[in-house]
Amino acid sequence: MELSARAAGDNGSSLMKILVTGGAGFIGSAFVRLLLSGDDDLSVGNLDALTYAGNLENLSAVDGDPRYRFLHVDLRDAEATARAVEGFEPDAIVHFAAESHVDRSILSPKPVVDTNFTGTFHLLEAARRCQVGRFVHVSTDEVYGSIDAPDDADETWPLHASSPYSASKAGSDLLALSYWTTYKLPVSVTRASNNYGPYQFPEKLIPLMISNALAGESLPVYGDGQQVRDWLYVDDHCRAIRAVLEQGRPGEVYNVGGTADLPNLEVVRRILAATGQPDSLIRYVVDRPGHDRRYAITSEKLMRETGWSPQMGFDEGLASTVAWYRDNAGWVERVRSGAYREWSERNYGRRQAELESL
Ligand code: NAD
Ligand code: DAU
Repeated sequence: MELSARAAGDNGSSLMKILVTGGAGFIGSAFVRLLLSGDDDLSVGNLDALTYAGNLENLSAVDGDPRYRFLHVDLRDAEATARAVEGFEPDAIVHFAAESHVDRSILSPKPVVDTNFTGTFHLLEAARRCQVGRFVHVSTDEVYGSIDAPDDADETWPLHASSPYSASKAGSDLLALSYWTTYKLPVSVTRASNNYGPYQFPEKLIPLMISNALAGESLPVYGDGQQVRDWLYVDDHCRAIRAVLEQGRPGEVYNVGGTADLPNLEVVRRILAATGQPDSLIRYVVDRPGHDRRYAITSEKLMRETGWSPQMGFDEGLASTVAWYRDNAGWVERVRSGAYREWSERNYGRRQAELESL
């Protein structure tokens, strides 16, 4: 399924229609911007409920692009999901939408299970009914649980979910793959490591630490800070998903790893150095319950089958991310204060007509 030079579809048109879910979030918005960065003959739908993590401001770069359309839909609503998919008639679905934060999943598991598992089920059902030609389910390396050094998990590694978030993702991975085995809906699953980059909600480690450091506030490190994560620049992740959309085999899982396996404390220290703040801002706090000690995956399969590799080195990626947060203090302030919701509502009014025209 080549996005750039696709043969005429069933309807005789060469227009490729891609429905992205969760396109107002951190990674989904980067993916929408990537899809629309060229002059490909695409129609991109963004199905998003606009939870606290969904921010249409992340998509100002594509605002006004006639190839882009926003669909305000909650995947927990089976009928609304089915109507949106039927109305858009996608050739492909790339499914990012999720409750993505582990700490929130520990405090409040219900929305996580409802969206990540049941919402995925509603989307798969709609895709099956509409015989969608391609479905990429975006998942996470967290489903493998903690991996002891020196091992790296490949795609056959047993699943060992520690949090409600990772369990909901592991369950939805299996459900998505069953739709290939049972119904021949051509599903591929990607499992990526920790992402970082612009527009990430400042609840996750890197954007939280950068925005706290820039504000001169303390940096809360869980436990001893020696937990290891494998950092992947968001644009590298998006290129990997596009590679799987174009070249991935149905029924297969593809790991997407980054360029730096680092303990959290080292990441925090580098952020303090990059922002010119002292290490004394570090504050050790009570550890996360069930905290996985180390994530480590190999992306050898994805590299071999698609030619993808991560391009962004961690030091360069971190420097440009710090610069982005420094230069976009208004975005951070609007997200932190919740004022971006007003912006979304103002903007959404214009989009109501598009939704009703489906
Ligand atoms: P995010 O929290 O920034 O964005 C999630 C988006 O999904 C938001 O726009 C939100 O409004 C939308 N959404 C949530 N519930 C919804 C619902 N019920 N119906 C419709 N839309 C809904 O998330 P992210 O960090 O961009 O992650 C995107 C995907 O990538 C998730 O599936 C996540 O599991 C996966 N992933 C994330 C990372 C990471 O480091 N952030 C790494 C690997 C995989
Ligand atoms: O591995 C991929 C996963 O990475 C994704 O599936 C998740 O959606 C994404 O949130 C992320 O999960 P983590 O739990 O690894 O990310 P988080 O940024 O929440 O935490 C990274 C590490 O930093 C983790 O070991 C916990 C620690 N941490 C986090 C926060 C928010 C702290 O020490 N202090 C903090 O305040």
